[in-house]
Amino acid sequence: MDNWHILETTFEPQALHHKETVFTIGNGYLGTRGAFEEGYPGAWPMTLIHGLFDDIPVAYTELVNAPNWIDFSIAIDGEYFRLDRGEILDYCRALDLRTGILTRTARWKSPAGHVIDVAFERFASLDDEHLLAVRCTLTSVNFTGPVEFRAGLSGTMDNMGWMHWEWVNQKAIGDRAVALEVRTKSTQIKLGAVARLDVIDTPDAEYVLEMCHANPTVVARVTIEPGQTFTADKLVTVFTTRDTQTPQLDAMDRLNFALMHGYELLRETHAAAWEAEWEHCNVTIEGDDEADLALRYSLFQLLAAAPRHDDRVSIAAKALSGFGYRGHVFWDTEIFLLPFFTHTRPEIARNLLHYRYHTLPGARRKAKANGYQGAMFAWESAATGDETTPRWGLPPDGDPVRIWCGDIEHHITADVVYAIHQYWRITGDDAFMRDYGAEIVLDTARFWTARVEWELENERYEITDVIGPDEYHEHVDNNAYTNYLARWNLQTAKAIWAWLQREYPEQAAALAGTLAITPQELARWDDVIEKLYLPYAAETGLIEQFEGYFDLKDPPLAEFEPRTKSLQAILGVEGVQEYQFIKQPDVLMLLYLLDDLYDTETARANWDYYTPRTDLTYGSSLGPAIQAALCAREGDPEEGYQHFRLAARTDLEDVRGNAHEGIHAATAGGLWQAAVFGFGGLRIGENGPEVDPRLPSNWTRLKFRVIYRGETHEFDIQS
Ligand code: BGC
Repeated sequence: MDNWHILETTFEPQALHHKETVFTIGNGYLGTRGAFEEGYPGAWPMTLIHGLFDDIPVAYTELVNAPNWIDFSIAIDGEYFRLDRGEILDYCRALDLRTGILTRTARWKSPAGHVIDVAFERFASLDDEHLLAVRCTLTSVNFTGPVEFRAGLSGTMDNMGWMHWEWVNQKAIGDRAVALEVRTKSTQIKLGAVARLDVIDTPDAEYVLEMCHANPTVVARVTIEPGQTFTADKLVTVFTTRDTQTPQLDAMDRLNFALMHGYELLRETHAAAWEAEWEHCNVTIEGDDEADLALRYSLFQLLAAAPRHDDRVSIAAKALSGFGYRGHVFWDTEIFLLPFFTHTRPEIARNLLHYRYHTLPGARRKAKANGYQGAMFAWESAATGDETTPRWGLPPDGDPVRIWCGDIEHHITADVVYAIHQYWRITGDDAFMRDYGAEIVLDTARFWTARVEWELENERYEITDVIGPDEYHEHVDNNAYTNYLARWNLQTAKAIWAWLQREYPEQAAALAGTLAITPQELARWDDVIEKLYLPYAAETGLIEQFEGYFDLKDPPLAEFEPRTKSLQAILGVEGVQEYQFIKQPDVLMLLYLLDDLYDTETARANWDYYTPRTDLTYGSSLGPAIQAALCAREGDPEEGYQHFRLAARTDLEDVRGNAHEGIHAATAGGLWQAAVFGFGGLRIGENGPEVDPRLPSNWTRLKFRVIYRGETHEFDIQS
């Protein structure tokens, strides 16, 4: 097999939820987990639509599980095809990454001994994001008798027991289609969907519409005999009031339009749209099939979740593939995912950054509520940009745990600016910076000048009581990552301000008015830039992660091996804070992002210090890929490769045991960075992008493309 397919050749019920995540498909409008069309006991069929949030207690808001469009069952002589019944004689599930089409074939013997071959195929069209399709092909091996194909729209989907939907209406459309309209309870977003079923190889199928409440279903009946095959196509269209005032009408129109094309053509245009994506985004690794496939799979999942026609949404930590983190958006997007989009699909990157622009009012509300001026982005963000980090974690088997990230994990604000600046540098999109980016950069700078505290004794500014990227340690003072990034945010604001005044004085004057950028404010930026405390010990070259970090207990990590849990799980939320163990790169993350701040020796010294103290296996999944990138960049591709492999197996092999909650989108983006920035050594030189490759010894070739200022650059590195 080429490295374009994710395959499962035996069905393993114990991996049901993990595999549902793995086989998620999507088209940037919605994502649908790989649950079976016909259902399975305990399965989590799930479709998440970007921006479709509804309120819940504790975690504020979550993406709502949309009506189940894949719902499709088959009955032969009254026996329902399901893999927990009868006998599976043959089985294969395959996700074709090239085309985004998920297929499943099974030879199944019913409890009564009837044998059939079933093949399902589904896609969420990348060409028309409101169009979804399931094709079912049924062949009888030894069975003669009646068959029912049942294609429904299931409007009673819940989010792990929580019901967000209320029924609005449903109707029959002609003799083979049904429409359903539902509405979220709090946010009052309406969703309209239409489903139609056609058995294509016979005019004699008998159609019946079963209008069960909230679950209208089209049923098609045929009679089959051994050797005979029937193909039943289900087309679904879906709109919400986020897209149009009249979702149900639009869904009907779109379905009619789709019917004029027919299934084959719809599938072709869908596949062609994926082909076009890969043209820009594919990365090829030769000499290492596992890495090649895992990276491609990661990019597939990122592209499947990437909003192409909506700039009011962003990609969540689990993309659109599971309930983990409830569809909230973290720094994962800006720091881990965006580099991939910025360098390959800048239009998508721009949409994702626009999301932060649209949520600026929320960021301003957060700053104000905390007593600061300017804009302070939410650690977890959803539709409005207001803070949505739950204050309490409610573990099923323990006491509630206070989660402080929403209160004090402040680096997110500078992370957003980092991504904006990187986008601007790579694309040269001045209009974006002028009209949107600058406002964010300037207003976040205003936040930082309000956030810093003057420390009298040392005559310096400090930032106390924060959480850095390493979330094992809470309420720390002068986290290096936060302080350096805050200063960088201010320096960037100064540069952008100067640029704006020079190039677009009218825009500068307008922003000076709305954001109160006065000479006093600018002088304060300078003052903070000059006097903000930046931990660094010249003798050792070490940057202390936060004040007092070096005084913490420091046993070798080996003392806790072997283990199957994070150090936080072993030592406790409080206990782990007494140690120098960290959840994920923090100082190293800083060195990775602001790579021109330090020379190689400094990077190496910090590298040697922090790596053995980082919980790379069971801490945050964000760690290994970046560790790999940094390792390769600092000249140790072999060690980097070990981290890369760990990251590459996160979702496909579920190395962390939590892939059932959804894919690890940051890891996916981190893998691209490790390959391209790390092993490929991509950097922007005087003449544009250039590479300084350091391939792991088993990689014989690394091939990728990036777009720099509108021009495509292809790199084909061979060893
Ligand atoms: C990590 C954060 C990350 C979040 C969402 C946490 O476990 O520590 O850095 O943003 O997960 O992926």
